[in-house]
Order: sequence, then structure tokens, then C-alpha cells
Amino acid sequence: MAGPDRDFWQQRFEQKQTPWDRGVAGPQIARWIADGTLTAGLRIAVPGCGGGHDALALARAGCSVIAIDYAEAAVALTRERLAAAHATADLVQADVLEWQPDSPLDAVYEQTCWCALHPDYWTAYAAQLARWLRPGGRLLMLAMQCRRDSAAEGRIEGPPYHMDINAVRALLPTSHWQWPAPPYERVPHAMGWTELAIVLTRR
Ligand SMILES: C[S@@+](CC[C@H](N)C(=O)[O-])C[C@H]1O[C@@H](n2cnc3c(N)ncnc32)[C@H](O)[C@@H]1O
Repeated sequence: MAGPDRDFWQQRFEQKQTPWDRGVAGPQIARWIADGTLTAGLRIAVPGCGGGHDALALARAGCSVIAIDYAEAAVALTRERLAAAHATADLVQADVLEWQPDSPLDAVYEQTCWCALHPDYWTAYAAQLARWLRPGGRLLMLAMQCRRDSAAEGRIEGPPYHMDINAVRALLPTSHWQWPAPPYERVPHAMGWTELAIVLTRR
């Protein structure tokens, strides 16, 4: 397969090489709580939940969280973090390209799972996001901006893979998604890049 596989991510957690991990929840979560985008009771998935900071913050906000990751070590970390905080969430060890919810979701919090996938899988992942959400459901996306100079030669480097806004727009077309107008908030990332915070609504 192209790009990193489950063993790659499992080893990163085992070797504690997780430079993407802020050690706290992504700062956009607090902003989305403050502006009413995130509210208690939302049934929300966190694909590629990693160490679980975001899942915990969303559970604390009263959301009904489904945290998904295919690396056993990530699921274990998230489980420990939730237990230490006496918080609850559904934890699923599964491939986001295969997992399906029992019923459509209100929201998906997409933080560095898309950019962890090789672009060969982006069409399938975008289809999954559309499949998971109910009509009117929202995709809360942090689109990683990490373009390298080698892209000018057509090289694909990652993870993280640069989420070019044109590619993301093509994969989440306006026929199926309502896009807010840019400019989008730029959120600094732990690895020195930035993410674009975008709330899309599933039509
Ligand atoms: C860069 S880390 C980000 C973790 C977390 N979202 C964060 O911001 O700290 C990417 C995560 O996605 C998970 N992941 C990558 N590909 C996946 C897949 N196909 N299915 C499920 N999880 C996946 C990895 O195991 C890893 O935990």
C-alpha cells in the first residue's frame, strides 16, 4: 500500500515519536464550543484519535464521542486518558476507510487523520466522511497546510500530506457539501505548520 500503514503508526506510539501531539486538545475545539458550533449531545466521531486529547475535550463538552484509530497503542492511550479523567466515549479500533457507524452522525472532528493518509486513499476517505454524516451534519475540519517545495516537481511527501484546498474542494464538492466562504481561520500546528479551520455542512 502507498504511504504509512498501521505498523508505522503503532511504532510511532511505542517509540513515543509523536511530534504531532500537542499534549492538549486542539485549540479550535474551545473556539467551536465558544461560538456554539460544538454543543452537548452531539454524536461526533474523531477519526485517527491518536493520544485522545481531542476525544477527551469533546466528551467533557458533553458530546457523545466515537473515537476511532487502527493503532492499538493509540486506542490504549485514549482509553487511559478518558479513564483518568472519568470521562466516557466509544472507543473503536478500526480502519477509518472501512468503519461505519450504526446510524448517521451529527458531526465529525477531522484533525490530522486525513493528512495521515496517502492521497491514494483520499477519494475513499472523503466518501466515508460523506457516508458517516446525516444530512445537515457537520464536518469540523482542520486542513493541514504543509506544502513542500518538492510538490513543484510532482513529488508527494508525507505524512503529514499537504491538504491542498483545491484537492479538498474537489473531493468534498459543493454538490454534496456547503462550504463557508474563505478566508478560513489559520490554526498553528505543533509541528510548525498551520491548519485551516473549516466547518462544512453535509447537504
Ligand atoms: C498524525 S496522528 C494524529 C492523531 C490525533 N488526531 C492528533 O491530532 O493528535 C494520525 C493518527 O491517525 C491514525 N490513523 C492513520 N491512518 C488510519 C486509518 N486508516 N484508520 C484509522 N486510524 C488511522 C494513526 O494511528 C494516528 O493515531
